[in-house]
Amino acid sequence: MQVLRGNIVHAPALGELEALEHGFIVLDDDGTIVSVCPTLPEEYAALPVVDYGDSLVMQSFADMHLHAPQYPMLGMGMDLPLLEWLNTYTFVTEARFSDNDYARRIYKKLAADLIRNGTTRVVMFSSLHTDATLILMEELERAGVTGYVGKVNMDRNCEGLLETTEESKRETLRWLDACDRFKYVKPILTPRFTPACTDELMEWLGKLAEERGLYVQSHLSENQSEIAWVRELHPDCRQYWETYDKYGLWKDHTVMAHCVHSDARECAAMRDANVVVAHCAGSNINLCSGVSPIRKMLREGIWVTLGSDIAGGAALPMYRVATMSIRASKIKRIESSWREEFLTVPEGYYLATSSGHRYFGAKDGFAVGDKLHAIVVSDADFTEAARPLSVSERFERAMYMMSKDSIVSVWSEGRKVL
Ligand code: GUN
Ligand code: FE
Repeated sequence: MQVLRGNIVHAPALGELEALEHGFIVLDDDGTIVSVCPTLPEEYAALPVVDYGDSLVMQSFADMHLHAPQYPMLGMGMDLPLLEWLNTYTFVTEARFSDNDYARRIYKKLAADLIRNGTTRVVMFSSLHTDATLILMEELERAGVTGYVGKVNMDRNCEGLLETTEESKRETLRWLDACDRFKYVKPILTPRFTPACTDELMEWLGKLAEERGLYVQSHLSENQSEIAWVRELHPDCRQYWETYDKYGLWKDHTVMAHCVHSDARECAAMRDANVVVAHCAGSNINLCSGVSPIRKMLREGIWVTLGSDIAGGAALPMYRVATMSIRASKIKRIESSWREEFLTVPEGYYLATSSGHRYFGAKDGFAVGDKLHAIVVSDADFTEAARPLSVSERFERAMYMMSKDSIVSVWSEGRKVL
């Protein structure tokens, strides 16, 4: 067992922040949290202490939607809306991942950058390439990133990057067979989005999810042209979500990225099925998709999490994604003539941490019985404030100001990985 000492900050509930000045986290041998306390109980006094001094010890981040093979196009090509953006930039970039050496280089860097920026859990899209997907999973596991990765299924409407329906099925099975060797990174079924998958493939994936007890991730109601296209492709479905529901893909723990244009009926369907929204504010603005009504979703009891959605999103660090989500919520406030509330910093932080970690079975905040997922943040470099700051104030400033250089240590699944 061991003890971590520092200024502990965590989000035990939406909108709640607990800050323990010079507090303690007691860990079991396997990195499970035994106690979170303001003073160290006598029974733990003899344990070795990792002293993080005046630094902040915070929950690490969960990125609930990102595209690994789009990392090479980060910060580029954001002058087109979704469907044109996919056809012009995205598919050609992803096509490069037929080259395993290239995949190895990019994915090694991505995995290292995730950890350096404090992201220890992900729900991630790979490309359609089985071998590159396995390389991605290897590199994540090696770096200490945990979570779910999906080989993408896409057998129609994607120029320059297509698999046949038969290939898609065969490669999905080959990929799943090879996933047994990973301990911390698990497979998730990943139909790209309704326009990219034939009915036959969707039906097959729904059955596979059911047979093997697999989770599902995809995209939903991101852009108006996309929604209109889905309506043409599935005239029997009243709304986009029903094209997933029809094939058994709309179920508990299904992650749906974006949901920018989801109305009350689509939102009710999310809540009833325990579908998870991955809100990707930066991407939605970059591709001029819109601003998702996150506040309303939270009020309606929908499970909302955050995603970087690189490379629609141009920032991998989840502290940037969290503050971008706060900004986007303020756009909603402006648009609603100040009727809608914006997200507070503790709320943005909760969505970027606890709400995502729950997907992996964790409880909210630093909870006894959970494996430690934490970052240690030093703000020693920041400008001297005009007065002494509380730990909560220092946390708020760190959320807006930190960079990867501020993150001095990272714990993932109970292990120190940086
Ligand atoms: N919809 C289908 N594919 C994609 C993608 O790669 N990025 C985004 N943002 N939306 C999508
Ligand atoms: Fe996406």
